[in-house]
Amino acid sequence: MYNTRNITKDIYWVGASDRRLELFENIMPITKGVSYNSYLIMDDKTVLLDTADASVSRQFIENVQHVLGGRSLDYLIVNHMEPDHCAVIEDIVLRHPNLKLIGNAKTLQMIKQFFDFDVESRFVTVKEGETFSTGHHTLTFVMAPMVHWPEAMFTYDVEEKILFSADAFGTFGALNGNIFNDEVDFEKDWLSEARRYYTNIVGKYGAPVQAALKKAATIDIQMICPLHGPIWRNNLGYILDKYNKWSTYTPEDDAVMVVYGSMYGNTEATANVLMTKLAEEGVKNIVAYSVSNTHVSHLIAEAFRCSHIVLAAPTYNNGIFTPMENFLLDLKAHGLQNRTYAIIENGTWAPVSGCQMMNIVQEMKDSKIIGSTFTLKSSLKECQVEQLNCLAKEIAKQVNN
Ligand code: FEO
Repeated sequence: MYNTRNITKDIYWVGASDRRLELFENIMPITKGVSYNSYLIMDDKTVLLDTADASVSRQFIENVQHVLGGRSLDYLIVNHMEPDHCAVIEDIVLRHPNLKLIGNAKTLQMIKQFFDFDVESRFVTVKEGETFSTGHHTLTFVMAPMVHWPEAMFTYDVEEKILFSADAFGTFGALNGNIFNDEVDFEKDWLSEARRYYTNIVGKYGAPVQAALKKAATIDIQMICPLHGPIWRNNLGYILDKYNKWSTYTPEDDAVMVVYGSMYGNTEATANVLMTKLAEEGVKNIVAYSVSNTHVSHLIAEAFRCSHIVLAAPTYNNGIFTPMENFLLDLKAHGLQNRTYAIIENGTWAPVSGCQMMNIVQEMKDSKIIGSTFTLKSSLKECQVEQLNCLAKEIAKQVNN
């Protein structure tokens, strides 16, 4: 059964949500599901903006056909070629043989890589700033390379002042009937997933996101229509501010995140003592994660949020406890910058994890380290508590300032 909503008089949301997929990109758990948004302009010309993932193709096609109401589809604008949005292109072409595809030169190349149908004869190549009239709407195209792939672009509706923003401003989470930000409690129910989506999908590309935001700042935007999650139709400054912080690697919160690996509880016990000292020094909202049972996508999102990160891990195979090493390498791959770290190592006979964690941390731009590595030989001893107190005091002094 079709399931659509108007976003303006003649523009429709025709997307669909998936609550069955376990891992987005076969990497990131999405316990709250995910939506694949698509938009259909019913003007003199009928214009679809992006398609959907293959998993929701049945619902998506029902939605498109329902809104078309027997009309044929004239144009499909392809803002992004990742298969979570482009998978249904060929099905749409088969249903609408006269359909023209609109994209940039890189889009064309990628469509030909993913599909075998005749793309060239129906493809309209657009460049930055070019316009396209659907009748009563003028659309213009804003290139947004590396947000999230090189061909990514935004489409802007000049009359309605709507930015169709591809992956930008998207979030994990299925849409539960409420498709607008003012119909949900975004901060309570969506922000952490929006952060996890941004940091894990686009986090590495802070500079291109900044370039796109600067372009967007020159446009009068009343509504942002992303390809995932709620549509923004008020309070746009809220999500723009988040994107500005995330893409400049500015911590959202002066906060301490403790990430520990612990084989038998001794490193965890030390992390617990440190956190109690931090609390006694006035640090609030401390968060702690076991690196062994927290999916790395959550750790990356929290590392983007917090200003201070405590890493505590045993030595393993003369290196770093494997899940901690994986986390740090993933964090480095996501390009996190400008964080302050404290390091706790453990080793029963030859502790080396601290030095090796330090090496990875120092490869991340503008990293700062508090104090020297705190070394455990198997377990925390009474004679070390004062040293741990000093570390807590130094972290608290910075965070509380
Ligand atoms: Fe939602 Fe980059 O695809």
